[in-house]
Amino acid sequence: METNSIIDHSLPKAERYQMLTQALGAILESETDLTANLANAAALIFHSFDFHWVGFYWVKENELVLGPFQGPVACTRIAKGRGVCGTCWEKNEIQCVPNVNEFPGHIACSALSQSELVLPVTRNGVVLGVLDIDSVFLNDFDEEDIRGMSQIVSVIERKFGA
Ligand code: SME
Repeated sequence: METNSIIDHSLPKAERYQMLTQALGAILESETDLTANLANAAALIFHSFDFHWVGFYWVKENELVLGPFQGPVACTRIAKGRGVCGTCWEKNEIQCVPNVNEFPGHIACSALSQSELVLPVTRNGVVLGVLDIDSVFLNDFDEEDIRGMSQIVSVIERKFGA
């Protein structure tokens, strides 16, 4: 499957999210390996939008450890409660941060990142990891992104979750 050009960037965001969710469902259907599926999910999201960084941090023992991603080199371990990702894990709540420079404890993996959206990936209410998306623009994430990315996370959770 040619994944990099599935989603036309000129389409409205809602349509892109719909296509992306369908494409991810199809890709995940035929593969059971976690790393393979998270890697393709990161690639698919990254190539459907113009975000700076898209990837996963996965809970390993008592830390979040860098998982499959697309974008610049990133920090590898994040403690619970630290930065936007660690806060998402600790609170088990989506974090939509319009200006990361104003977020207490934000971990600046890339000085270019200005806004950030992080969603928990859960199984039976327990956080397995987080999906982290960074943008070079301030206030780049809206309700449509939260809804769309939540749908994507649901596809991943259905595969590995309950
Ligand atoms: N900025 C994140 C760290 C991960 S990078 O953005 C890839 C944070 O504060 O949790």
